[in-house]
Amino acid sequence: MSLLPVMEGLHSAEVLTPAFLEAFFRRARHVEQRPEDFAGALEGRIIAHVFEEPSTRTRLSFEAAAHRLGARVLTVSDPKSSSGAKGESLHDAAKVIGGYCDLMVLRHARDGASRLASLSAGVPVVNGGDGRLGHPTQTLVDLYTLHRRWEGFRGRTVAIAGDLLHGRTARSLAWGLATLGVRLVLLPGPGLDWESSFDRRLLDRFDYRLRRCRHRLFETWTGTAEARLLEPRGLVQPSLFPEDAPVLSGLDALYMTRLQSERGAEAQDRPYCRLSASDLRDPLLEECLVLHPLPRLDELPRELDDDPRAIWFEQARLGPVVRQVVFLAMLHEDRWSLPQLAPLPAGNPDHELGNCPNPSCITRAEGLPVPWRVVGRARRSFLCAFCDGLLPVDYAGCRSTHRVHPLHSPAAMRIAPENLRPFRERDAAESAGYVWGG
Ligand code: CP
Repeated sequence: MSLLPVMEGLHSAEVLTPAFLEAFFRRARHVEQRPEDFAGALEGRIIAHVFEEPSTRTRLSFEAAAHRLGARVLTVSDPKSSSGAKGESLHDAAKVIGGYCDLMVLRHARDGASRLASLSAGVPVVNGGDGRLGHPTQTLVDLYTLHRRWEGFRGRTVAIAGDLLHGRTARSLAWGLATLGVRLVLLPGPGLDWESSFDRRLLDRFDYRLRRCRHRLFETWTGTAEARLLEPRGLVQPSLFPEDAPVLSGLDALYMTRLQSERGAEAQDRPYCRLSASDLRDPLLEECLVLHPLPRLDELPRELDDDPRAIWFEQARLGPVVRQVVFLAMLHEDRWSLPQLAPLPAGNPDHELGNCPNPSCITRAEGLPVPWRVVGRARRSFLCAFCDGLLPVDYAGCRSTHRVHPLHSPAAMRIAPENLRPFRERDAAESAGYVWGG
C-alpha cells in the first residue's frame, strides 16, 4: 500500500497523548511565568496566518504569540482579499504561501482543509479551525485553562453542551478530555448532536463505555433530562450506579458552545441552551468551572461574568501563551521540543471509493477522490483521511490473499492494516479479482 507522506503540522486533537499534554502544560506554565526566556526565540522566522473565515481570538492570539517570540507575520484576514475569491484551489494557495513562510496557520470553512493544505505547503500547517472538524489549538487552550485550576484530570466529569453537530471546539475537546481519562457528559441541543459514529470512535479508541445519566437542569438546557455519559471502563464500580440512568450529583466543568449558524445550524422551536444565575446555585454546579470558546451569543448572560466559576475570559487570555508553545515546538524544536506525536496518515488514494459522502469535505471543493484511512480496535471503520467522514464500506479485502470478507467479521479483523482494501459492494470486490471468504 502506498501512503502519501504523513501530514506535517497540527491538524487534529486526535493525535494528542497524555505525555505530550503533560509536557505541553509544563512549557505553557514556563512561558506564562517567565516570558523573557522566550523573547526573540523566533527572530528571523515568518509565520503566515491565513484566515478564510472570520476570527477574533484565534487569529489575534496566534499573531500576538508570533510577535512575542520575535517572528514576523503575514496575514490574510479577509477571504475576499485573497485569490480564493477568484477560484484558486486550496492546494495551489497553500503551495504558494508555503514558499513565503516557515509555518502557516489556516482557518477554513471546509472539513479537512488543514490536512489537505499540509500536503502541498511544504511547511508545517497548524489548524486554526476547519469546518466542523477540529480546532486543536483551542483544545490546548481549554485543557491548559483547566490544568491551571485542577490537580489532575482523571476521574473528572465534564459536560459539553450546545451545538455538538456543527461545533469543532466541542469535538476537539472531547478527544482531548478523553485522552486524559475524563468522564464526558454530552448535552446537545435538539437536532444538534454529532454522528453516532463519532461516539463509537471515542468509545473504541479510549476503551470507554456508554451509559446514561440524568439531571433536571439538563432538561432546562436541552429539552431532555437524560444525557449520554462516556466514561473509562473501570473508573467506577457499576454497582455504585445501579439505576439505568443515575442522577448526576456534580460536574467539575461545563463547556458551553454557541449555535453555529454559519455552518447551517438552525434555531430550534425551543430556546437554545442557556445558563442562568439560578442554575449556578444548583448543587450540580457548586464546584463547576464554566468554559466557553467564545464568541458567545445568549448561552452565557453577562451577569455571570464575575462568578468565580466563570473562566471563559481566562481561556481567551491564555490563547497567546498556548500558541507560543505550539510555535516554539514546531519552529525551534532543537531547544523547545515536545514529545513526538504520531502523525495522521495522509490516506490511501489507490482505490476509487468515489466522492466523500460529506458535502463539506475539502475533497469535494477540490475535486479529489476520497483518500481513506482505517481506525478502530474492536471494530474497524474506514474514514475519509481529510474530513474523518465515515465511508460506506461494507467489505474488506486482503491484498495478500485476495479474499474478501464482511467488514465486521472476525476474518476481516484479522487482515493486517497495510493489506486492507475497502469495497462498497461484494460485486466490486469480485470484479477486482477477490474471492469470497475462506
Ligand atoms: N474560539 C475561537 O475560535 O474564536 P474566534 O472564532 O474568534 O477565533
